[in-house]
This record gives sequence, structure tokens and C-alpha cells, in this order.
Amino acid sequence: MRLTPRRIHSTEDARRLAQRKLPRMVFDFVDGGAGREMGTARNTARFDDILLQPRAMADVATRDLKQTFLGRRYDCPFGIAPMGMCNLIHPSADRALADAARTLNIPVGLSAAGSTSLENMRQMAGDNAWFQVYFGGSQQATLDTIARARSAGYDTLILTVDVPQVARRVRDLRNGFSFPFKMTTRAFLDFATHPAWSLRTLHAGIPSPQNISADPETRFDRHASRAGADWTFLSKARDAWPGHLIVKGIASEDDAIRVVEAGADAVYVSNHGARQLDSAAAAIDLLPRIRQAVGPDTPLLFDSGVRNGEDVVKAQALGADFVMLGRPALFALGAQGEAGLNALLQTIKEDISVVLAQLGENAVSRLGPHNLFNPTPDASTRRTRAATPDLHVASKT
Ligand SMILES: Cc1cc2nc3c(=O)[nH]c(=O)nc-3n(C[C@H](O)[C@H](O)[C@H](O)COP(=O)(O)O)c2cc1C
Repeated sequence: MRLTPRRIHSTEDARRLAQRKLPRMVFDFVDGGAGREMGTARNTARFDDILLQPRAMADVATRDLKQTFLGRRYDCPFGIAPMGMCNLIHPSADRALADAARTLNIPVGLSAAGSTSLENMRQMAGDNAWFQVYFGGSQQATLDTIARARSAGYDTLILTVDVPQVARRVRDLRNGFSFPFKMTTRAFLDFATHPAWSLRTLHAGIPSPQNISADPETRFDRHASRAGADWTFLSKARDAWPGHLIVKGIASEDDAIRVVEAGADAVYVSNHGARQLDSAAAAIDLLPRIRQAVGPDTPLLFDSGVRNGEDVVKAQALGADFVMLGRPALFALGAQGEAGLNALLQTIKEDISVVLAQLGENAVSRLGPHNLFNPTPDASTRRTRAATPDLHVASKT
């Protein structure tokens, strides 16, 4: 029985509710971007410029949302991107993400800057959990974190490489956002006017990063340079990690090719939700170019600007094998905790299924440039999709 009425039917619903319920400092940490925040707007606006081609009278009574990525079959073509400090949005955010990942059989990324220990997350999400590492402290400290993830049983590691230096995020600077929290008058008023969040957070304990060394010599400092994640380090990480290695934050064709040559198993096309470089191209514009550069066989993961099921379908049509949701999941958690998250994920799942029907497709695995109304020249080199989806496990809506 649903105890909370479903008030989230879109990312926009979730964002609006989250903005009301979260202290401004916390909402801005999630919602904000680098510089003047033109990049965050561009990421979503460019999705809206892409149009799909409806097709009529196909047999679409059953639709298959399953997608295989790095040898594993997931029930949906999307997962949750790694994001730091999720428990700041809601004390049980990571638990809710882990439960959703298991229930929906989708991957969830735990960040090195996460507020749940990687061991705990692996226990909660099982092998639906992926671990994401930043270069932090020193090369040895980072390799130690990678070894810790291996001991905890992870089989997929994401190395994020697009934060050589944390960007200037003006909202965070204005709000005095920092870790650990500094209780300024402004922060006090912000928390006092959001008592539900404040009481919940005080009761659970202020979250703190759980996957970084406490040793002052090697401690991960959010504002320290992470430029140590260079090509030499990538090769060391490759040697140290026998499982699947994904390199996240690739926004150039040349880098994508080099990442593949360095032995990574997948390229993660992302501009970090425009949280790093305001003038970066929209990630969805980079996707077909990178698909063309790496060819049809390299597994490509995508995020930045995905807000609904149509966006997931567009990214698939433009060359992504798998698509990750970032801010929308945190908005939903901020809006209504676990119930909000589940409502949003269900919405996106339903949306994808309905969109497939409009496009005359019965499987996500059949999507390609032929589904675009205005394919770009780059999109026409999209690989040929698998011909035989598992229709016996189709979702019927
Ligand atoms: C609050 C927040 C924290 C994030 N922390 C991390 C992180 O620790 N590691 C990482 O690789 N990416 C991090 N990201 C970036 C996301 O993984 C993802 O690339 C981005 O959210 C995609 O953009 P979108 O949310 O606008 O779709 C973070 C994003 C947000 C919103």
C-alpha cells in the first residue's frame, strides 16, 4: 500500500519539491554548476533540440527494457551515477539507492566522496554496486582505496578524470558550503527554516566522507588538485584492477581513443553535469562524435542532462550503451526520500516503455539513429544493434 501519495511524475516535480524541502545550501550543492551555469542549462536544452521519429502500426504490445553492459544483463538501460555526500540530501539516501538498484536490477555508483563506506554499500547493493574513485591524497593512497574496493568484492571500478581541480561553483561559495560544515549565521537560519531536514539530519548524525583516508599526510582534500589521475596513473590503475574499469568524464574524441588504447573496458562520456567547466559542449553533442571516434564495439556510458525516459532513449539512439541519472535521483530523495526516489525511477522506466511504443520499437536494444528525426552526420555511424532481444521477459505496460 502506498502511504505517501505519488507527487513525483517527472524530474521537474522532484526538483520543485526538493527546493522547498531542502536547506538552500544543500539544494544548491545538488542543483548548482560551474561558473555562470550556462553549461547546466545547455546540457538539458540540447536534449530538447533532438527530436524522435514516431512510427505507426508496429507490433509493440510487449517491450523489452533490458540492456547488457559489460557482460551483465540489467533490467533497465539506466543506472545511478556516482555522487558524493548523498546522505546529506537524506540520511537514508545511499540505503534507498542500494535498495532501488537491487529491486530494479540497475547499477548504482558509490563515490569515493560518498557518505557510506564502500564495504557497507557493497553489502546493501550487492553486485549492483559499482565503486567510483578519484585520485586523492597520493598515488599510493588512491591505489590503496582501489585495493580496498577489490577486497570488498566490487567488480566494476569507475575512475573519474574530469576534476583536475574542483571548479568554482558560485552558489556553494556564496552559501559558504564546506566540509566539515561551518555553522555561520546564514547556515543557521537556512537550517532553522527547514526543521524537518535539520531534525532528521541531526538525529542521524551529520554525514561525512567514509571512503577517504583520515591520515593527514594522504587525506583526500576536496579542493586539492586531482590532476594525479593522468595517463600514467590510468595504466597503474589498469594493472591494479582485474575487474571492469570505466573511465568517467571523457569529453573529447582523442581522449576517448586513448582511454581505449590504455585498456579501459568502457568510456564514460560526461561533462560532470557541467559542474566543472561552464563552457564545455553539451554532453549529448559529444556522444555521437565519440561513438564515431571509438567505433561500434567500445562500450559507452553516458550522463549529463538526462531528465526523463525520452532523454534515455535519445542517448541510446546517439550511441550510448548505458545511461546514468545524476541530479534527478537526488532531487527525488530530497523531495520525498525513498518513496520519492522509487516514484521517479518508476516514472522514467514507464516513460522509456511508452516512448519505445511510439517509435515502433519493442526493445531498447533496437534503438539507433533511425529513431531520430534529425540525425546528425555523426549519428549515422551508429553501430548495428543486437537483432534478438529477449521478448519472453518483456515489460508490458
Ligand atoms: C551533488 C553531486 C555530486 C557529485 N559527485 C560526484 C562524484 O563524487 N564523483 C563523480 O564522478 N561524479 C560526481 N557527480 C557527477 C555525476 O556523477 C554526473 O556526472 C552528473 O550528475 C551528471 O549530470 P546531471 O546530474 O545534470 O545529469 C556529482 C554530481 C552531483 C549533482
